[in-house]
Amino acid sequence: MKLDKVQISQFRNIESAIVYPSPHLNVVIGQNGSGKSSFLESLHYLGFGRSFRTNKHCHVIKSDHSQFSVFAECSDRHNDSHKIGLMRNHKDEFLCSINGERSQRLADLVAKIPVQIFTPQSTDLLLGSPSNRRKFIDWGLFHVEQSFFLQSVNYSKILKQRNALLKNQQSGKKVDNDEIEYWSHQLAIYGGKIDTARQKYISALKLIFKRISEQFLPEFSLEISYNQGWDSSVDFVSALKEKLPYDSRMGFTSVGTHKADIKIKADKVLASERLSRGQLRMLVAALQLSQTLHLFESTNKSGIFLLDDIGAELDEDKRIHFIDALLATNTQLFVTAIEKSHLSFVEKYNDKKMFHVEHGHVNEEQ
Ligand SMILES: Nc1ncnc2c1ncn2[C@@H]1O[C@H](COP(=O)(O)OP(=O)(O)O)[C@@H](O)[C@H]1O
Ligand SMILES: [Mg+2]
Repeated sequence: MKLDKVQISQFRNIESAIVYPSPHLNVVIGQNGSGKSSFLESLHYLGFGRSFRTNKHCHVIKSDHSQFSVFAECSDRHNDSHKIGLMRNHKDEFLCSINGERSQRLADLVAKIPVQIFTPQSTDLLLGSPSNRRKFIDWGLFHVEQSFFLQSVNYSKILKQRNALLKNQQSGKKVDNDEIEYWSHQLAIYGGKIDTARQKYISALKLIFKRISEQFLPEFSLEISYNQGWDSSVDFVSALKEKLPYDSRMGFTSVGTHKADIKIKADKVLASERLSRGQLRMLVAALQLSQTLHLFESTNKSGIFLLDDIGAELDEDKRIHFIDALLATNTQLFVTAIEKSHLSFVEKYNDKKMFHVEHGHVNEEQ
């Protein structure tokens, strides 16, 4: 899916903007504080329903306004057009619209456009908590396997039920053991499906990542390994049973797919402990590119990639390699920089548009 037209209202310092992006490369230039990241953030809302800078939606509404909206006209790979959009107000009410139909199901909106982002904070994928890495895997699965979303929703609901019982048990209330057993089995059914999907996804991703990482970080031997969230020598139900006394004391479920993680090792040492900041950024770029390629190769879908402050983030040769590889998968790219001089390398790309951002106004260079 490509964005053909984007209409932004009252988002951060952008009062109103209408942008007709290139289907390939879009370069967004502006001083610090002009609104470049805000522009990318508004596109991020289309792909995630949230910001990449805050989890408080009201912070992105333009000061002294009561709501923001982002609408887009898009075309898919068959050239069919779609109209999508969302709006949020200061009462935290939310509405999305898909081809004229209003909906409150965010999943329907975000399934339309795979959006990826690379920012100075992207190293959180490697340095942050396991939930960052689960989100990474699950983003890929969400766009590749239609059933994955429902399985995750069901799993979370069941986990909540089981945790509520464990909490009661912890506080000394009487709890029916059959009931815990019932929810354990339910959890294992959905957990098993999620785990199988993740294992399959990671196996496929590993092959692509091997190819990509040899180009981005040739000096290291990099390996991805997956931890499913429980002792892999037993099945999930047995692991739940084994941990039940502990979980009852703690008041929550300590094993399961909600505890899964991936480890990335460089020369047999955890990448987060072995690589420099710059090398970690390169590794994140390689992981993201592997996802883009996997999505393209397995579904023929391509998405949108947002690259904030690229000049500061990647060495010039890697930057060109990254952009070339993304454009080769038919990805629509949005790249920001403070000065044109940081982007001399974009000269070689023909199908591009340049935008200048000033005080929240986004203008296309003629
Ligand atoms: N809710 C808001 N309402 C109005 N202005 C905002 C809001 N949130 C942030 N800003 C302002 O928007 C401007 C643009 O920020 P940003 O997009 O991060 O700039 P850039 O990425 O170009 O450096 C900043 O001056 C910031 O203070
Ligand atoms: Mg910025």
